[in-house]
Amino acid sequence: MLRFFVADSLDLLARLPDRSVGVVVTSPPYNLGIRYRTYRDTLPRRDYLAWTDAWVRQVARVLGPAGSLFLNVGAKPTDPWTAMDVAQAVRPHLHLQNTIHWVKSIAIDREAAGEGTGLDRDLAVGHYKPINSERFLNDCHEFVFHFSPTGRTPLDRRAIGVPYQDTSNIGRWRAAAGGLRCRGNTWFIPYETIQSREKDRPHPATFPPRMPEFCLRLHGLARVGLVVDPFLGLGSTAVACATLGVDFVGIDLDRSYVEEAEARVRRAIAGSPRLDFGEPEPARQPHDRSAGTARHGQPRSPRGSRRRMNDR
Ligand SMILES: C[S@@+](CC[C@H](N)C(=O)[O-])C[C@H]1O[C@@H](n2cnc3c(N)ncnc32)[C@H](O)[C@@H]1O
Repeated sequence: MLRFFVADSLDLLARLPDRSVGVVVTSPPYNLGIRYRTYRDTLPRRDYLAWTDAWVRQVARVLGPAGSLFLNVGAKPTDPWTAMDVAQAVRPHLHLQNTIHWVKSIAIDREAAGEGTGLDRDLAVGHYKPINSERFLNDCHEFVFHFSPTGRTPLDRRAIGVPYQDTSNIGRWRAAAGGLRCRGNTWFIPYETIQSREKDRPHPATFPPRMPEFCLRLHGLARVGLVVDPFLGLGSTAVACATLGVDFVGIDLDRSYVEEAEARVRRAIAGSPRLDFGEPEPARQPHDRSAGTARHGQPRSPRGSRRRMNDR
């Protein structure tokens, strides 16, 4: 079952029982001045990290003992510590089990790749936002920190494994592992090419559904249980859960994002008998203590002021 809430995630998470969630895959606001529809992404750093501490504390409480938090965070060249600061804010609550690099774009030189790869030219693939600068590089990656309660959450590495390239030396191991090796911690997941930002991806900071899909498969679909994304956005984690057939709760302050997320899920699995939405969101709307009530129109953000649009 998939359930969506227009709410403040702190309030909603507080209502979930201890150890009731298997996996959280999420990407919070980065506090980089990104212009969301409702949320104001410009807190003083200290307040932002205090807020991060508060929601991560709730996530740590609701995660089961073999659970996973996959936390996607990026940065911008003029504020390069964001991702590390957020990871440090999680440190008192959960163990950092893996650090994954989500690679949005990559260039591979044919010569460096070697003859065996079959490349007939240099390769440059994926999308990124070009940075016009004499001192900064284009930012083609973001972090996905994998946290867990003990640092010992078992993983299904072969669920996102890649075929062995060199089969000469590994006959025995190949057979044992179904021909797949661990993908490692660099995941090339490009954004889908779109024609119109406003129409096709009306949100300034999404990740592709393939990213949460990798996270969930890696955690192990048999062990996933309930998945939560407390910062739903356009519902990329919801789409992954719907296609994988796992239970999901998604939360966002912004009603239009939540509506678009539901529409995306419906489109992603149109015709599938798996689709089962929970009760309509207003019936489950919690009282919103800090941000005004979302039940009547748009909730307001408690923090910060508006700033310039800043895509990832
Ligand atoms: C980085 S975006 C998430 C994007 C999402 N991963 C996707 O692929 O579409 C962060 C989202 O958090 C939402 N948000 C910010 N503060 C929130 C809060 N306190 N509770 C719930 N949602 C919040 C924003 O509206 C924004 O959509």
